[in-house]
Amino acid sequence: MKNVLVTGATSGIGLELVKLLAEKKINILFFARNKKKSADLKLLLEKKYDIKVDYFLSDFSDLNSIKIAIQNFLKKNITIDCLVNNAGKVYFSYGKTKDNLERSFQINYLSHFYLAEKLIQEKVLLENSQVLNVSSVAHSPNSSINSLDNIKHKKLVGQINFEDINYEKEKLRGFTGLFYSRSKMSQIMWTYHRSKSLKSIKINSIHPGLLGSNVIFDNGLLGKILTPLFKLFFRSSKEGAKNIMFVIEKISQEKITGKYFDERVISQSHEFSYVTENQKKLFDISKKLLSEREID
Ligand SMILES: NC(=O)c1ccc[n+]([C@@H]2O[C@H](COP(=O)([O-])OP(=O)(O)OC[C@H]3O[C@@H](n4cnc5c(N)ncnc54)[C@H](OP(=O)(O)O)[C@@H]3O)[C@@H](O)[C@H]2O)c1
Repeated sequence: MKNVLVTGATSGIGLELVKLLAEKKINILFFARNKKKSADLKLLLEKKYDIKVDYFLSDFSDLNSIKIAIQNFLKKNITIDCLVNNAGKVYFSYGKTKDNLERSFQINYLSHFYLAEKLIQEKVLLENSQVLNVSSVAHSPNSSINSLDNIKHKKLVGQINFEDINYEKEKLRGFTGLFYSRSKMSQIMWTYHRSKSLKSIKINSIHPGLLGSNVIFDNGLLGKILTPLFKLFFRSSKEGAKNIMFVIEKISQEKITGKYFDERVISQSHEFSYVTENQKKLFDISKKLLSEREID
């Protein structure tokens, strides 16, 4: 492996992952929203590991900013061996992006769908390269993040509501894990669907483990109280990065595609993710949501 592109490399698992990649002398490209963090990270990696690093400023809650970042990326004529779709946050409350989409769906899933599909179309991903989607065990209706919703919103848990993608009809508001859970389910369903048509590029998804990071920080006071507790009681982000590194190396050596890894082991995702008709519906609606916004 020569070049790896990672999203969300400025914190938590992504930050630890780029350090592990850099230790192996792999050049790093990353998409990130924070200018200062990005510049500092580039400097640190280049100085400490003597590798090439380039970054592309982009906010995953703003499709146009991803579009511009991709254009800048394409101008450099770089090919990559691996794309790790890692950027993401947990939001327990309802929010919409400037693209008028429910924010978790867009940040964690749709923006990454767009990035990967565009790089595939532009032949940036080499033959035998891979896309790894950092999903979560939270995709499952049985996950503890859905405990309350299994009582309050039973019929929505685990579902992609194709007729009401923004929860306008359901008026899903208040504290819920459903936004995050749906975004992580979407990543897995797209992985399964896309693996059937991709011939020379492998695509898989992974739950990296339950880890102390900043993933729930952006939830007001609750996020600020829970984040240090998570960091105290859960394993470190580095352990998650090691799991991802293990899986990337395994996939680069073997013909593995269309799989879901629970940490280092190929596992079954929740049964809802295997419904092929819904996988296709999700793929089609994702394309439609982008084209309606003139994102191509
Ligand atoms: N931690 C866990 O237990 C766990 C478990 C399962 C799955 N995951 C998944 O692992 C991935 C990484 O999360 P983490 O735990 O490492 O959390 P984290 O420490 O909060 O890191 C998240 C990364 O995503 C970036 N990001 C978030 N929103 C963004 C946006 N709108 N535009 C651009 N970048 C954005 C962040 O950028 P900034 O640095 O600018 O904030 C940061 O680099 C996520 O997809 C998460 O769902 C985590």
